Amino acid sequence: MKKEEISLEAKIKYVAERFVEEIQDKEIQVISHFDTDGITSAAIMIKALKKLDKKFSVKIMKSLEKEFIETLDKDKLTIFLDLASSSLEIIEKHFTKEVFVIDHHEIIQEVPERINIINPQLHSKQKISSSCLTYLFCKQLDPENKDLAKLAILGMIGDMFGDEIDKLDNGILEDGDIKRKRGLLIYPSTRPLNRTLEFCSNPYIPGVTGDIKGVLELLREVNLAPPKGGKYKSLMELDEEEMERLVTGIMLRNPRTTNREMLGDIFLIKLFNKLEDARELSAMVNACSRLGESGTAIQLCMEIPKAKKKAQTIHARYRQFIISGLKFVEETEKIQGKDFIIINAKDNIKDTMAGTIASILSKSSLYEEGTIIINMAYYDDKIKVSGRMVGENGRSVREILAKVVDEIGGEVGGHRFAAGAIISRTKEQEFIDLLKKNLELEIVKI
Ligand code: C5P
Ligand code: C5P
Repeated sequence: MKKEEISLEAKIKYVAERFVEEIQDKEIQVISHFDTDGITSAAIMIKALKKLDKKFSVKIMKSLEKEFIETLDKDKLTIFLDLASSSLEIIEKHFTKEVFVIDHHEIIQEVPERINIINPQLHSKQKISSSCLTYLFCKQLDPENKDLAKLAILGMIGDMFGDEIDKLDNGILEDGDIKRKRGLLIYPSTRPLNRTLEFCSNPYIPGVTGDIKGVLELLREVNLAPPKGGKYKSLMELDEEEMERLVTGIMLRNPRTTNREMLGDIFLIKLFNKLEDARELSAMVNACSRLGESGTAIQLCMEIPKAKKKAQTIHARYRQFIISGLKFVEETEKIQGKDFIIINAKDNIKDTMAGTIASILSKSSLYEEGTIIINMAYYDDKIKVSGRMVGENGRSVREILAKVVDEIGGEVGGHRFAAGAIISRTKEQEFIDLLKKNLELEIVKI
């Protein structure tokens, strides 16, 4: 993939101008990804297109497969959000007209001429979410679209780019009227501690996350248990000394968590006229989508009142799924080698949650820095594969998965430290054998 000569900002402006020229007389179809970044990107685009009074349709996808692309209407003006960078060849073959892509995933080929793409990988490789790119694009369509900036930031949080928000020098934070405060990164900060800690996955606390007995033990140990019959305090209600005791207690159980990781900036976004913790909102959006309710996820971002209660209920169900998924991983036999671990969850973890579980494990203290975690889950006659790197020192997960998938067939894409694939179920054993071989081979080479 050749780098482009112009800056990302100039490219956004150029592509937006092409888009305005192309949409004059056409119906638009928006295809977006189903995680928080994709949903916020879609919500931003929907609001912008509504303002322009354009006719459009939206499809939210958990992945972009060849068979799906081939069903898309060629006469509509198509814009892909938060996906498509690894499917440019198939897209070019299918469409006869110009196509638009706003994405931040790795690109593996030269960009075909008919594809107008905004992707930081072609420029300075800045870590920026698709939602921010979509926002900057929509602001080019109409500078009045500033009210969508909060959704752009929500997408950044969804993709774990919170640390990168400060580096955004394009006014998004200011546009979005985002509040921030420094605090313990565990959330939500308003629920009783016993509940918050039970569902705490970032950081994952061994012996505490998903383990009520362990939670109560920890709280007793740090002297935060309430008097008999009383209620546990919430994080917000702790004084400085209590907070310090809790942080120490958590750090003792997860020695890899440092103070720096435990404390950080918490971004507060106004939704339904109430300031909310962006991480909680992001988790809610993600939960809806991953449990098959992407419509509710989009409505939540668009502040449609009835969506809030529904999203809260779905989120509660999703948290239970996470806990049972983590329990399954703990108890099941895993394929383990030096620097890698393969979990073949089959039907025991929902395919849409394979990535979430792998992400949580990669942030836990269970595995050494540099370990590649591969999680496999069935769906239909296929297998969803999610790969994550523990830390940021190691081989490219995307490259390793791509090598295997190239050989056995399927879809693959993602980033260096987080990538995914879809393969046929008939290839299950072949995939595992080849993957093991590749993971072991790479080690020998190093
Ligand atoms: O679709 P995609 O980019 O959105 O996937 C998001 C997932 O990838 C999240 O789990 C996020 O933590 C992870 N990710 C990562 N490092 C990156 C980009 C994404 O760990 N550089
Ligand atoms: O699905 P999962 O969360 O494991 O995906 C990790 C990353 O790889 C995400 O950024 C996702 O968008 C990307 N991915 C992809 N193509 C696939 C599967 C995952 O680009 N077929």
